[in-house]
Amino acid sequence: MGHQDAARERTRTIEEMFSRLVPHYDRMNRLMTGGRDGRWRTLAVQVSQPDGSVVLDLGAGTGDLSAEFRRQGAGHVLGFDVSASMLARAEQKFGRDGIDWLQGDAQHLPFADESFDVVASAFVMRNLPDLEGSFEEMARVLKPGGRLVGLDITHPPNTPWGRVLRFGFEQGVTRVAGLLSGDRSAYRYLPNSLSGYPTADELSAMLESVGLIDVSYRRLSMGAVALHVGRKS
Ligand SMILES: C[S@@+](CC[C@H](N)C(=O)[O-])C[C@H]1O[C@@H](n2cnc3c(N)ncnc32)[C@H](O)[C@@H]1O
Repeated sequence: MGHQDAARERTRTIEEMFSRLVPHYDRMNRLMTGGRDGRWRTLAVQVSQPDGSVVLDLGAGTGDLSAEFRRQGAGHVLGFDVSASMLARAEQKFGRDGIDWLQGDAQHLPFADESFDVVASAFVMRNLPDLEGSFEEMARVLKPGGRLVGLDITHPPNTPWGRVLRFGFEQGVTRVAGLLSGDRSAYRYLPNSLSGYPTADELSAMLESVGLIDVSYRRLSMGAVALHVGRKS
């Protein structure tokens, strides 16, 4: 199987997994993050300075980040996701006032160059087999001066606390989430999704390599999550 076929196959598996999780997804998010995920999304929207802007929310899922963009003044949001079931839930929750929901693959964006002021994603980058190609696509559809904002779990720092986080992530989250959702395999995927995923520094370097400038990141919640920001010149 060629690289492209393997990537397509993996994306299809991920899509099926998220579609199965729809009924549990929001509850599991709150539980696994100790209720912090909402604050992280609020911050991700704040750093993107969304006032009046046209926003692409990649991997919008059940819509919380798209809705936060609208709440903080974005002019129009496009919630984009590979899973139609996730988007159906998002529309049920937030409707279509200033938000459109569109199914598609973040690795091949069906948009013209320079279409968006902000391209954002929350907890999606780990799921993209072709991350570098996806960043190229994100940079392509950003307008000059536009911002890319990426929020995701990251490799914990190599400190005693980092090791506690790693253990909690690999063991606790998987078991508790698997039991509660009744879908152990889906949540076993979570810790595995960090293997082969770039470190926060490597991810910054990838963003720079697709031509973004002013790239930086900050760790949130004592290092478990990283919020990356970059700008198109
Ligand atoms: C962990 S959820 C995050 C959802 C939402 N952004 C949030 O903050 O809750 C990951 C989402 O990314 C979507 N996704 C995974 N691979 C994708 C791809 N290649 N293109 C678009 N969406 C994708 C999944 O369907 C899922 O809804």
